[in-house]
Amino acid sequence: MKDKIRVLIPENDVNRKISEIAAQISQDYAGGEVHLICILKGGVFFTCELAKRLTIPVSLDFMSVSSYGSGTQSSGVVKIIKDLDEPLEGKDVLIVEDIIDSGRTLAYLMEILEKRGPKSIRLCTLLDKPERRVKKQVKVDYTCFSIPDEFVVGYGLDYDQKYRNLPYIGVVEQL
Ligand code: IMP
Ligand code: MG
Repeated sequence: MKDKIRVLIPENDVNRKISEIAAQISQDYAGGEVHLICILKGGVFFTCELAKRLTIPVSLDFMSVSSYGSGTQSSGVVKIIKDLDEPLEGKDVLIVEDIIDSGRTLAYLMEILEKRGPKSIRLCTLLDKPERRVKKQVKVDYTCFSIPDEFVVGYGLDYDQKYRNLPYIGVVEQL
């Protein structure tokens, strides 16, 4: 079956917003450095675009967790597939996510990463679906776009591992 993709946020709007958020982050961390933690795989496009626009010194690490099976339903189970390479002690950490939905992934991640002794830990997401939040304690420091409760793809986000490479945010409409 071929999927039809409706554009929700065009490429130019995404890029413009990332530039704004990057300027804000550069200002907030002025005089310091930031250690970006990219949450694979979805966060990878956003992390690169964000990192390119930051004017402060940046280091990068990657982590892979899973909270979803295939399809669009949350399993509620979060497991670490790939852990970080570097320690977090004394670092100003910024977690970079593609989307915060129920908040289960982030609630779990924040809990384990806080135990590793970072100097600070903040959260940055490309997309947020606030209506879907189950874990209310998850506080997002930087959000590019809050979106309605629709399943989106592109800019790193997948539907059964497809569409991550779309340069815009779209909604899958089955034909
Ligand atoms: P949470 O734990 O429910 O907040 O889910 C976070 C993860 O679910 C994200 O990192 C995505 O991988 C996936 N996810 C949630 N909503 C969507 C969506 O609309 N499209 C694609 N993936 C999504
Ligand atoms: Mg996913």
